[in-house]
Amino acid sequence: MNYFIFVLAYLIGSVPFGLVVGKLFYGVDIREHGSGNLGGTNTFRVLGKKAGFIVTIGDILKGTLAASLPLLFHQDLNPLFVGLFAVVGHMYPIFAGFRGGKAVATSAGLLLFQSPLLFLILLIFFLGCLFTTKYVSLSSMLTAIVSMIGAWIEGDKILFYILTIITIFIIYRHRANIKRIMNGTESKANIKLFKK
Ligand code: G3P
Repeated sequence: MNYFIFVLAYLIGSVPFGLVVGKLFYGVDIREHGSGNLGGTNTFRVLGKKAGFIVTIGDILKGTLAASLPLLFHQDLNPLFVGLFAVVGHMYPIFAGFRGGKAVATSAGLLLFQSPLLFLILLIFFLGCLFTTKYVSLSSMLTAIVSMIGAWIEGDKILFYILTIITIFIIYRHRANIKRIMNGTESKANIKLFKK
């Protein structure tokens, strides 16, 4: 039963919302456009705010649902360990040729399950970074780093260790963004997307 839950979490994380929404409603594989990433940000960029919101929310909920599995199946397993498998699924999805996203939204969903307050604080921090720098990638990485500090302050050691692993994943998956930020070619978010 335990193994089944980890596999199920991985499969949930593997659901490629960006690909499904892009292909089904727009006939587009978003990995062939924009940054090439299969995530909410690139969906906003390539397909607009409606699709972007749907994909972002879907990707967040994958983490929340995966973390809820021990509760749903009455298993004595740490939700964070289970949720981590969904984050891996999101980055390397079996349903999308293992070419997935950068771990941000699904990890946020995991945090939403574990600590809604920290989730909210980090969301505000993320938006603050985004409105200041206009870089989603940089804001994501800064928020990931600050999340570890938040977990430490909360005194949740397991959350701290899981967020440390996730932060390493996030920075690794953003290595192309880091290069672009350094040479000035990273695309800036169109904040107007959030208006209207
Ligand atoms: O969550 C991914 C985001 O931080 C960067 O996405 O498409 O700009 O590489 P993208």
